[in-house]
Amino acid sequence: MSDERIYLDHHATTPCDQCVLEVMWPWFADHVGNASSTSHAFGREARDAVERARWQIADAIGSTPEEIIFTSGATESNNLAIKGVLQGERNRRHLIINAAEHRAVLDPAKRLKQEGVVVTILPVDEYGRVDQQAVEDAIRPETSLVSVMMANNEVGTLNAVEKIGTVCQRKGVLFHSDASQAIGKLPVKVSELPIDLMSFTAHKIYGPQGVGALYIRRRQPAIRLVSQIDGGGHERRLRSGTLPVPLIVGFGEACQIAVGEMEEESTRLRNLRERLRAAIMSALDGVTLNGHPDLRLPGNLHLSFAGVDGDALMANLDGLAVSSGSACTTADPEPSHVLRAMGIPEKLSLASLRFGLGRLTTTDEIDRAAQLVISAVQRLRDMKSCSVDHHST
Ligand SMILES: Cc1ncc(COP(=O)(O)O)c(C=O)c1O
Repeated sequence: MSDERIYLDHHATTPCDQCVLEVMWPWFADHVGNASSTSHAFGREARDAVERARWQIADAIGSTPEEIIFTSGATESNNLAIKGVLQGERNRRHLIINAAEHRAVLDPAKRLKQEGVVVTILPVDEYGRVDQQAVEDAIRPETSLVSVMMANNEVGTLNAVEKIGTVCQRKGVLFHSDASQAIGKLPVKVSELPIDLMSFTAHKIYGPQGVGALYIRRRQPAIRLVSQIDGGGHERRLRSGTLPVPLIVGFGEACQIAVGEMEEESTRLRNLRERLRAAIMSALDGVTLNGHPDLRLPGNLHLSFAGVDGDALMANLDGLAVSSGSACTTADPEPSHVLRAMGIPEKLSLASLRFGLGRLTTTDEIDRAAQLVISAVQRLRDMKSCSVDHHST
C-alpha cells in the first residue's frame, strides 16, 4: 500500500488485483448486456463472458463448470447449501455443524432449528479443529448434512476435511465445506476430495466484493437443494437474479491468478508470518499463539497478550489494520465465539489480535507492525503497573 498505514486484515477482505480490475472494467464501461437475454449479440457476449469465468473457476478448483452456481458471496452460498439441503428433507432433518464455524453457517443453522430441524453443534479442540471421530459418532440415520469449514477465518486452523468427508461418504451423508479462507491459499481440488458442496467468495482472493459461488457435486443420486432466492431461476433454477457480469468476470480472473501464484505466495507469506511471530514473541512475555502451530493458513497469525486490555490495545495500534476477532461480526461486541469454543478464557480472548498477511504485505511492513505491537503492549503494561504501584502506595 502506498501510505504509511499497514493493512494486515486480509482475512476480512483483500484489495482487488490490478489485473482483475482491468478485465472487469470493459464489462462496466464498454459492454452492455444481460447474460440471460441471449436473443441478441449483446446478451450472448455477456453470457459467454460469464461462462468463461465459470470455466476458470471450475478449472481452479477441479470441478466441471456445470457444478458452479454463482451467488453474491459465501454467506449466500452457505445459506443455499445448508438451508437448501435441510428444507428439502422430510425425514432426515438432522444437521451437524461445529462451534467454530463462521456466522454464515451458525445463523442458517439457528434458523433451521426454529423450523424444527435438529442441529448438533460439535465442540472443537484447543486449536479449533473438529475431530473426525466426533463427526462419525454424531451421525444418525436421520442426518442429511455435515458442514465443516476448511480453514478457520479467525485462527487460521485447517480442518481434516478429507477425512471428515470420507466419514460422511461412508455413512451416506452429504458433506459441505465453507472454503472461503482456503481457496487460493491451499491446494483444493474437489475432484480429489469427498466434498459434495463447497462455498467460496471472490473478495478473499483479490477479486471484487459481492460475488461468490457454490460448488455442487454432480452425482447419483443428484443433490437436491431448495432455492433461497426465487424469481427467474437464472442459475439453473437454484438461484435467481441478474448475474453481475463484471464481478463474475473478475472472480474468474482472481481465481486463476490466486491458484497460479499459490505455491510461491504461500511460502512467502509463511516466512513473513514467522518473522512477525518471532519478533513479537521474542520481545514480549505473556504472548500465546492461538490456533494450530503448523496446520494453519500461511498468512494467519493469531496472538493473545496477557495483562492488557483488548480495547486499549486496538486503540493504541493507530495505522495498523488488524482484527480483534472476526471482522464480519465487529458489530457484535461479544468475545469471539471461536476462541471461546477453543477454551480460551474471555479476558485473554478479548486481548487477542488476528494478523492477516496478504499479497502486498512487505518485509518492511512486517517489521514496522511488530514494532507497533511491541511498543503498544509495553506501554499498556507499564501504565498498568504504574497504576497498581500508585494504588498500593
Ligand atoms: C469462513 C467465511 N465464511 C463466510 C464468509 C462470508 O463471505 P461473504 O463476505 O462473501 O459473504 C467469510 C467472510 O468473512 C468467511 O471468512
